[in-house]
Amino acid sequence: HAADAHRTDLMTITRFVLNEQSKYPESRGDFTILLSHIVLGCKFVCSAVNKAGLAKLIGLAGETNIQGEEQKKLDVLSNDVFVKALVSSGRTSVLVSEEDEEATFVESSKRGKYCVVFDPLDGSSNIDCGVSIGTIFGIYTLTHTDEPTTEDVLKPGNEMVAAGYCMYGSSCMLVLSTGTGVHGFTLDPSLGEFILTHPDIKIPKKGNIYSVNEGNARNWDGPTTKYVEKCKFPKDGSPAKSLRYVGSMVADVHRTLLYGGIFLYPADKKSPNGKLRVLYEVFPMSFLMEQAGGQAFTGKKRALDLVPEKIHERSPIFLGSYDDVEEIKALYAMEE
Ligand code: AHG
Ligand code: MN
Ligand code: MN
Ligand code: MN
Repeated sequence: HAADAHRTDLMTITRFVLNEQSKYPESRGDFTILLSHIVLGCKFVCSAVNKAGLAKLIGLAGETNIQGEEQKKLDVLSNDVFVKALVSSGRTSVLVSEEDEEATFVESSKRGKYCVVFDPLDGSSNIDCGVSIGTIFGIYTLTHTDEPTTEDVLKPGNEMVAAGYCMYGSSCMLVLSTGTGVHGFTLDPSLGEFILTHPDIKIPKKGNIYSVNEGNARNWDGPTTKYVEKCKFPKDGSPAKSLRYVGSMVADVHRTLLYGGIFLYPADKKSPNGKLRVLYEVFPMSFLMEQAGGQAFTGKKRALDLVPEKIHERSPIFLGSYDDVEEIKALYAMEE
């Protein structure tokens, strides 16, 4: 029965993706090879995060990144590991990382047909206090054989072929979509394998949790202010929503995906484009939300329809349960 099957069937992430890819007769296993290198990076970061305190991996690296953020040692280490793993896969041509000001163009002998945008360590402010953090990635395919340029990654999220995140929390979970639903894999440390534990994740149509940094409330615009007010003081007699905010996007989005509700990082007077980066935070999480039956909205349009002009461009984002996002869309529509 199910329990035994789980123990003996061992649906690892590699087997799962091979099954998925077998549906495309022309696929030559390139995506499977790319994914196995992303998985390698996640396993490395998971082990580094688990021993960060012991291995003196907490604290600052003494540098700042293009975002003007002080880089933590684990930010830099994770970035190095993912860049090296992706280049050595021989399946990538362009890499964009939160931690690198410029895109990385892979030298021609090692180039492949994928472009990967990633946040090697998301939620850095939570590293030193042991709260869940993660890695986020999105994958585009190269559509030509000339010299790769940033144009190859300045594409709308609706052209991504896959997206996912790995959360380093009480367990290490990798959540992935290759365009046919969302699937969750849990790392079995004794095997060193990610095992399928959450097949075909669907987000509840409506939730009772809202997730936002209330500390920015004085800077919010009208629709966001009205929406949050409605969560706290519902007019129709329904119960108030609960507030849950970890401060790591991966953890807040993972909870939203499994429990339902809405995650908001709105624009505010200080940051008119919000804080979260389009390519490697907004797009991958929006891709996953839509694949799970939810939706993602920027305050003006469907998040995946955004066309970024710069690799570190930011956008406001409202994502989660379908009905909850509909409500905030209605409030922004009234502003038009
Ligand atoms: P990163 O650590 O990769 O720079 O991302 C941090 C982001 C995201 O993880 C989280 O949702 C958001 O910052 C929290 O921002 P506030 O602390 O302003 O709420
Ligand atoms: Mn950062
Ligand atoms: Mn991040
Ligand atoms: Mn980061």
